[in-house]
Amino acid sequence: MLTGAGVSAESGIVTFRAAEGLWEEHRIEDVASPEGFARNPRLVHDFYNQRRRHLLQPEIRPNAAHLALAEFERDFDGEFLLVSQNIDDLHERAGSRELRPMHGELLKIRCQHSGRVFEHCGDVFVETSCPCCDRTGALRPDITWFGEIPMHMDEIFAALDSCDVFVAIGTSGNVYPAAGFHQAAKAAGATTVELNLECTGSGFDHGEYGPATEVVPKFFSSLLMSNFLCMVQKQI
Ligand code: APR
Repeated sequence: MLTGAGVSAESGIVTFRAAEGLWEEHRIEDVASPEGFARNPRLVHDFYNQRRRHLLQPEIRPNAAHLALAEFERDFDGEFLLVSQNIDDLHERAGSRELRPMHGELLKIRCQHSGRVFEHCGDVFVETSCPCCDRTGALRPDITWFGEIPMHMDEIFAALDSCDVFVAIGTSGNVYPAAGFHQAAKAAGATTVELNLECTGSGFDHGEYGPATEVVPKFFSSLLMSNFLCMVQKQI
């Protein structure tokens, strides 16, 4: 399973590419690239401080889609891996366990010298001293920026190679390598499914369209009852 910003939209977290989305207000190269951070670390810290504060507002909670994925993982007997492009912690709060946040996590910071990662809920500034080396200016968000290699890639490609069903949820399919995962799964013999507000036209075997809080619980309860594979096999 792969999730993107659409799964958290109904929890109150703005997606990236919608009108008034996060990338309408900010230049990607300024706030989400290593070069942008080297040029202006204060701006980048401020951007992620705002995101972190928003994520920790009491009204931001996992929604029915996050909960349905966690429930499926609990009840399903087979192997399950949830790969998320999201940097929020809503899957984790919903109870997902086999979770790989490939673009990193907002509530973690990394020392640029040692590579060590620390949980962190508060603001970070250029002046914040690093918990491991005590230097200022050493910390960066533990987030994969444009031009960097996403996390957990070996494990993700091994899972794509052996999965029976690949489901992409709430992602526009604009950013690689995640945008190519369904093709890798398909090439290895999996049935591919898109659950999204609208069809992205990316060539999935099957799609269900509507708000994630509606289509995700419905789809995963039918997958659990094994209705889905029978239905798709009849269609193909
Ligand atoms: N339910 C289901 N899908 C939704 C909902 C909803 N309530 N709201 C929006 N969507 C869909 C949109 O139609 C769109 O296809 O979610 C998708 C969100 O797309 P993007 O904003 O492009 O987000 P995502 O695909 O996660 O972006 C991938 O790009 O900017 C980088 O690193 C960033 O992880 C991010 C990556």
